[in-house]
Amino acid sequence: MHSSDHNQSTLTLHLPDEDATASLGQQLAPLLAPGMVLWFDGDLGAGKTTLVRALLRARGHSGPVKSPTYTLVEIYVISRIYWYHFDFYRFNFPEEFLDAGFGEYFRDDAVCLVEWPEKAEGCLPPADLMVRFRFAENGRAVDVVACSEEGQKCLKALRSGWPDAAG
Ligand SMILES: Nc1ncnc2c1ncn2[C@@H]1O[C@H](COP(=O)(O)OP(=O)(O)O)[C@@H](O)[C@H]1O
Ligand SMILES: [Mg+2]
Repeated sequence: MHSSDHNQSTLTLHLPDEDATASLGQQLAPLLAPGMVLWFDGDLGAGKTTLVRALLRARGHSGPVKSPTYTLVEIYVISRIYWYHFDFYRFNFPEEFLDAGFGEYFRDDAVCLVEWPEKAEGCLPPADLMVRFRFAENGRAVDVVACSEEGQKCLKALRSGWPDAAG
């Protein structure tokens, strides 16, 4: 796996195949703490749900992890921590986030994992960490961007644990 740094707050990783995406989920999983918000950006089929699935499995969830495309949110309780997996693809307006009362899910005993955050722009609480996927020649590339002090700690640990990661 190949990676490079743009600056202190962004780690760019190349994910040649689905296993690499799963591996990122496994690396990220132990670094997350209640209260954190993660945004997952990227086109349909980029790998957002694949990453979330690996992450939840690595935290001990053994059942299926379905895409919340139709339900908007899927809820997991793992070792007393709430994990809310959102997908706002189907929103027509960001205000639907408020109408649905989703603001109440962003608590300090919950981790919020958000696909299509741009569809709730202006209504969604800010991210600690953003994972931005793009299609690369082989597989995918991701930018992992830290947006808070919590996020910076995560990124630092991720960088030191990822094979070939610079810095
Ligand atoms: N790094 C990768 N390289 C190539 N294919 C991948 C990679 N990561 C995931 N995939 C595949 O791409 C698809 C991603 O689907 P999904 O995770 O549902 O995307 P999204 O949630 O972004 O719409 C899956 O078929 C998965 O097997
Ligand atoms: Mg998805």
